[in-house]
Formats: sequence, C-alpha cells, structure tokens
Amino acid sequence: MEILHHPVLGELPDAERITIDFEGRKIEARPGQTVAFALMANGIVALGRSRKLRQARGVYCASGRCCSCFMTIDGHEHVRACVTRVRAGMKIRQNTGDPQVGRDLDED
Ligand code: FES
Repeated sequence: MEILHHPVLGELPDAERITIDFEGRKIEARPGQTVAFALMANGIVALGRSRKLRQARGVYCASGRCCSCFMTIDGHEHVRACVTRVRAGMKIRQNTGDPQVGRDLDED
C-alpha cells in the first residue's frame, strides 16, 4: 500500500527504485523507505512470528518503541524494521525465534 496521489501534495513523483531481498525473493523499494513500509508496499505484512504462540507479528507502533517489527537484516537479528531504511541488495528475513546471543557480530 502506497499513497501515490495525495489530495494536498499531489502525485508522488516516479522515483528511482532499488531491489531488496526478502526471504530470497527480489522486491522493489523506494530509496528512503523503511524496511517495514517497503515490505508493506509489496503486500507483505507478517514480519515475523511470536516466540510462544507462533502468531504473525507486524508493525504496531511504527516509531521504534516496541518490538513488534523485529527482523533479521543483513545477518543482524532483531533489528527494528519500522525505523531502518532500505539499501540496495539488503537481505531481509523474518524473525522466527530468539536471537543467538552468544554470537559475536565481528565474526561475520
Ligand atoms: S513497530 Fe514498534 S518498533 Fe517497529
């Protein structure tokens, strides 16, 4: 879902598109969009699963204040997708469990 025609601001200019990787699937995004909203613009609203009940998780606060939109982005687990901007080639995966807390990110 994207607002392409705004009643006050008018038409959204036809901006450049970049490609990101979501679960191995190539999707298009606009530079400057956040990961969560780039996914939502492509019809993807389930960003992960809850630990206990395995229920779909999505955007809740949209301001970086909860943990509902945690995703794994470029190998970093539990990144807030609603406040992280897309970059070309970014690899995005759904969050499906607890982070591997013993792992050192510098080992990658
Ligand atoms: S939706 Fe609450 S931190 Fe992203």
